[in-house]
Amino acid sequence: MKILVIGHLGQLGKDMLRAASSAEHAVSGVDFPDIDITVPASVQNSIAAHAPDVIVNCAAFTAVDQCETKSAKAFAANAEGVANIGLAATEHGATVVHLSTDYVFDGTKKSPYVETDSPNPLSVYGKSKLAGEQRLMETCSRSFILRIAWLYGTRGNNFLKTIRGIALKRAETHEQVNVVNDQVGTPTYTVHVCRQILSLIETDLYGLYHSTNEGLCSWFDFARAIVRAYRIPVVVAPCTTAEFLRLVPQSAPRPANSVLENERLKKAGLNIMPPWEQGLEEYVLEEKSQEGNRLS
Ligand SMILES: NC(=O)c1ccc[n+]([C@@H]2O[C@H](COP(=O)([O-])OP(=O)(O)OC[C@H]3O[C@@H](n4cnc5c(N)ncnc54)[C@H](OP(=O)(O)O)[C@@H]3O)[C@@H](O)[C@H]2O)c1
Repeated sequence: MKILVIGHLGQLGKDMLRAASSAEHAVSGVDFPDIDITVPASVQNSIAAHAPDVIVNCAAFTAVDQCETKSAKAFAANAEGVANIGLAATEHGATVVHLSTDYVFDGTKKSPYVETDSPNPLSVYGKSKLAGEQRLMETCSRSFILRIAWLYGTRGNNFLKTIRGIALKRAETHEQVNVVNDQVGTPTYTVHVCRQILSLIETDLYGLYHSTNEGLCSWFDFARAIVRAYRIPVVVAPCTTAEFLRLVPQSAPRPANSVLENERLKKAGLNIMPPWEQGLEEYVLEEKSQEGNRLS
């Protein structure tokens, strides 16, 4: 298939480009400033020039806290930008794959969220992403929306890299690392999301899917697993969100429960998302192999 990855310089976009190319699709990527998804003509021109069968939209305004004060920018990229892609895709007969987020939920549910649960975003980012889902459904019937969460990949900035950096410094000064233990979710490895996307586009089962790695943990659990994986001699201690926010204020509220159940993928027999622990293992191996390639 001819695949166009929009936002190919972002964390997921970089891995999507590689995964599609390894799967022997004809793939190309565009990103800002060569495309600005908030400008309809820019999207039209890019899609007309590439004539893709499938567009994977990895572009978004993802700075969650900045979205609180830059609401217009958030909605321009995360809602209207997605509609621009949906309209152009429909005109050119392309299928769209779009990524959304656990932040569409308020996190008050006591069990994992399924696709039929009612969204109720707490933050501007979550509201803009929910509007993006709706705008895509209005503008493009041949579309897949995958809600993902707690994303990390070797080619992006993410929680794993932040915690590893802090842990390495604290190991030297013999200080502990305090990590939030009252927010739960599922760390989700970019490479697994890309594989799930590539298998979904072989079908015409369009619609909304939850697509995170399997299992759940708190940020504290994830931090402990990261420190163990890298054998960093540091104590990781649990704290509450309230305690953390006193030290590191954040503008956007986060849902306490971010766990998404891949119910629709499972019902369709399409769920290939492995447990999150496997994602972490594969991440470490991938990083080692990249390091080896750099040295050789
Ligand atoms: N990261 C997470 O934990 C997470 C969790 C759930 C869902 N998601 C969703 O997953 C998707 C991929 O996330 P990610 O972490 O890979 O994001 P990312 O690293 O921030 O990449 C987004 C890319 O989009 C580009 N972009 C921003 N505004 C644009 C515009 N107006 N026109 C064209 N390109 C634009 C960015 O360019 P600049 O860098 O130049 O701005 C960047 O290259 C997003 O839809 C995000 O909402 C992410």
